[in-house]
Amino acid sequence: MPLYGVVNSPCRSHRAAASTVVVVSLALLCSCFVISSMPSAVVTVDQSGKGDHRRIQDAIDAAPANGSAGTIIRIKPGVYREKIVVDRPYVTLTGTSASSTVITWNESWVSDESPTVSLLASDFVAKRLTFQNTFGNTAPAVAVRVAGDRAAFYGCRFVSFQDTLLDERGRHYYRGCYVQGATDFIFGNGRALFDKCHLHSTSPVGAGGAFTAQQRSSESEDTGYSFVGCKLTGLGAGTAILGRPWGPYSRVVFALTYISSTVRPQGWDDWGDLAKQRTVFYGQYQCYGDGSKTSGRVAWSHDLMQAEAAPFITKAWVDGQQWLR
Ligand SMILES: *[C@@H]1O[C@H](CO)[C@@H](O)[C@H](O)[C@H]1NC(C)=O
Ligand SMILES: *[C@@H]1O[C@H](CO)[C@@H](O)[C@H](O)[C@H]1NC(C)=O
Repeated sequence: MPLYGVVNSPCRSHRAAASTVVVVSLALLCSCFVISSMPSAVVTVDQSGKGDHRRIQDAIDAAPANGSAGTIIRIKPGVYREKIVVDRPYVTLTGTSASSTVITWNESWVSDESPTVSLLASDFVAKRLTFQNTFGNTAPAVAVRVAGDRAAFYGCRFVSFQDTLLDERGRHYYRGCYVQGATDFIFGNGRALFDKCHLHSTSPVGAGGAFTAQQRSSESEDTGYSFVGCKLTGLGAGTAILGRPWGPYSRVVFALTYISSTVRPQGWDDWGDLAKQRTVFYGQYQCYGDGSKTSGRVAWSHDLMQAEAAPFITKAWVDGQQWLR
């Protein structure tokens, strides 16, 4: 489905995984002791100069690279025109409210360095922040690239047009978040649970957008996106589909979710590759709203039974019992 004459596939990324910190067992014992006795450092970012830093990136760069105790970075309200890279583990970014604390950049995807925010390290948390890429509707422009394991987002907003949220690699949890875009705007090969999130399509009436483009490439990969208790809206009837397969084993489930008439009756498409109809896993479980009816869905998608939906609809989907705090 060619859209607006823009590049019609999500961008690939070639950056190697953030380097893993190797710790010998003795040091590990020591750092465990340190964790239990030393609280996380708390620093403040304030554009007026009253905090520890004026720029968010400066606060991240000052956090320990070995991350043993973690750093909580409190960000005062403001529009931060910064491109951010989180390359060390156990960083938490917290805003006052997503509407008042905005991290913004304007750049289409030309390289791995293009997203407004790139999360390369593990154990990241963000609360009450807006992540935005203002490039507009002529090319893919990523607001956030999530390429580290165990990332959690609470009350955050992700705003762009094409390819807004690159949920690329690792296990991720989004709760009470808002994600806006038109084409393939949640995409990549991560394993993610979206819990009570609002996805808003800005695909114009008469065009065809897609909420997701999950990239799972083989049956052995444990990746896929699960949306539970979410809300899907858009600019008019039939402007978008739920998803299309970037990878042949693309896996996406919508459960207990409000789906407005913005979603076309067919629900999904095979991105012009009939073979993918046999390998993708696209399902719906107890959704509601005018766009939720499964009677018109493509025959190769699933109206799930409770037992089939069960693995997708709790935090266990992302092993959350092990790492969500
Ligand atoms: C972590 O890095 C800091 C410097 O950033 C250093 O002082 C500390 O000893 C390191 N801790 C471990 C456990 O390696
Ligand atoms: C973004 O940058 C492009 C040029 O690269 C410019 O044409 C456009 O006006 C900018 N948009 C915003 C919202 O700043």
